[in-house]
Amino acid sequence: MQDDIFKKEEADRWFERNKEGLVPKEDLIIKIIRDYRLLDKASKVLEVGSSNGFRLAKIHEEFGSKVFAIEPSKKAVEDGKSKWDFITFYQSTIAEFDESKHFLDFDLIIVNSVFHWIDRNHLLISIGKVDNMLKWGGHLILGDFQVHIPIKRKYHHKEGVFTYKQPYKEIFTSSFLYVELFTMAFNHDSKNLAGIDINTYFSVSLLRKEELYFELYDGHRH
Ligand SMILES: C[S@@+](CC[C@H](N)C(=O)[O-])C[C@H]1O[C@@H](n2cnc3c(N)ncnc32)[C@H](O)[C@@H]1O
Repeated sequence: MQDDIFKKEEADRWFERNKEGLVPKEDLIIKIIRDYRLLDKASKVLEVGSSNGFRLAKIHEEFGSKVFAIEPSKKAVEDGKSKWDFITFYQSTIAEFDESKHFLDFDLIIVNSVFHWIDRNHLLISIGKVDNMLKWGGHLILGDFQVHIPIKRKYHHKEGVFTYKQPYKEIFTSSFLYVELFTMAFNHDSKNLAGIDINTYFSVSLLRKEELYFELYDGHRH
């Protein structure tokens, strides 16, 4: 299964290829958190597929929040633990994470550039775990290649691995349990708003977990 390939080697390889850039820095996700005042010192934040926790380090430094990370790469977790002792790491894929033993009351969960990797056998369980860990009224920041037609593509770094592009946010919003507050699209490679095509279309969405039902008071029983 694709998740096994990630656990065994590919998660570490991604970390090795990208580690130079995995440092606390400004990005769109940090800007959204700041501009919409999503966090304070009491808040609990989880990042799924956090790599070494570079974004959580920035979040803790700027907003003082409690920060938690789920990441399958042993090397990324070791690197993060050696740099930022305030991050609680769980070395796991999201599908295998036993959330019942941990927290079910996160104020914010970030899943950026992760769902497109996930084994299709594990997509819905992974989404279910994210949902289960987010408290009502909490926020989800979801970044991915959310093109409006589903695309499966061979991953050029590893035989047998595929990436899957689709509007992941719609899996959440179609449940009517998430309201879409904000979505911004840009070119994944250049980060520019211009020159987006089907390969580079990336979007970041801010969703809030809340019921979106119209409640009827007309005497009907169902
Ligand atoms: C493209 S990187 C993105 C890293 C970071 N979220 C960011 O915004 O830069 C994808 C990350 O997801 C991790 N990952 C891959 N499969 C995963 C899974 N099934 N569950 C959790 N994380 C996974 C990888 O190890 C890697 O660190």
